[in-house]
Amino acid sequence: MKIYQIALLPGDGIGRDVTDAAWAVLEKASNAAGFALSGTSYPWSCDYYLQHGSMMPADGIETLKTFEAILLGAVGWPAKVPDSVSLHGLLLPIRKAFVQYANIRPHRLLPGVQGPLKSDHFDILCIRENTEGEYSGAGGRVHQGTDNEVAVETTIFTRKGVERILRFGFEQARARRGKLASVTKSNAQKHSMVFWDEITRKLAGEFPDVEVTSYHIDAMAARMVMAPESLDVVVASNLFGDILTDLGAAIQGGLGFAASANVNPDRTAPSMFEPVHGSAPDIAHLGIANPIAAIWSGAMMFEHLGEIAAARTVMAAIETTTARGIGAIPGKDKTDTITKAVLSALD
Ligand code: NAD
Ligand code: IPM
Ligand code: MN
Repeated sequence: MKIYQIALLPGDGIGRDVTDAAWAVLEKASNAAGFALSGTSYPWSCDYYLQHGSMMPADGIETLKTFEAILLGAVGWPAKVPDSVSLHGLLLPIRKAFVQYANIRPHRLLPGVQGPLKSDHFDILCIRENTEGEYSGAGGRVHQGTDNEVAVETTIFTRKGVERILRFGFEQARARRGKLASVTKSNAQKHSMVFWDEITRKLAGEFPDVEVTSYHIDAMAARMVMAPESLDVVVASNLFGDILTDLGAAIQGGLGFAASANVNPDRTAPSMFEPVHGSAPDIAHLGIANPIAAIWSGAMMFEHLGEIAAARTVMAAIETTTARGIGAIPGKDKTDTITKAVLSALD
């Protein structure tokens, strides 16, 4: 029997609750499908930082490299550790080190979930560039604390980085409804975004079967609310994709429903699966976090591992659960209630 080696990084706040929930569902689904999961959990988090002075050990990346996939909850607890330290100490280095350049984030309404929009017929796949762009981390501050202080945050777009994410988006569009929206702000940002638009036009020649439209990020934000049914695959840079996918989460009923996969398409290192949401300090001790986003992310992990039938089984169990009204209304059901309902829907 195939046994997959999975690293678990529950992280902070509700990350721990939703990872436990997802793991219970994934273990049960894997047993039923005839394969097994071997999970190794690491306590890397803001608490770990307070004890050890770093978010993960110096050989953390080496340790994770030996796994077939990583399941992550959420990282960050700003009251204990500044976000700029915690996220640059754990989540962001993993995405970069493992070249998880494609962050795949699906946005659609689950049955029984009432979104905020008039239109409930949308099915958007956001593809977010995940290793460079506005998240390069390059920059600095000079004349600190003086009236002349300047802070510079350098955005880095490489031809290799832009081409590979756009190509990934074109391929996804080709496998879906054949429509690609490329998002920039090339009317204001005259270097990187013009570069992105040029590469989009170049690749369009290679994918004549895909209908490509370039949008500005501001117009795209409005379109996702006003006409989400007009969108199929949406490709955006790291920061724009980050913002659009919280908007995507909102139109699908809330952050508790938005799943994501940080994928290394070349499979040279493990990919990582995590909900779009964060550690939610405001509800962290209440037992009311919606675990559906994390469970759905687990289904994306199964798909990535080639366990397609098990991925479908998990999605079907989520859909049965929300169709019954459980987990469908934000804040109504406890994490445990939703998890138990998904577990029993697996039968
Ligand atoms: P957040 O996503 O944690 O929370 C935003 C709002 O959504 C909160 O009101 C929260 O209660 C609600 N929410 C989020 N997930 C939910 C769920 N599963 N069920 C029900 N409600 C849910 O965003 P934030 O408050 O900006 O960030 C909190 C911390 O998490 C920060 O440290 C931030 O940097 C970090 N963060 C981490 C990740 C990640 O690890 N991938 C993602 C986003 C934010
Ligand atoms: C996400 C998160 C992260 C990001 C933060 C916590 C650095 O918001 O995964 O969407 O911006 O990538
Ligand atoms: Mn985000």
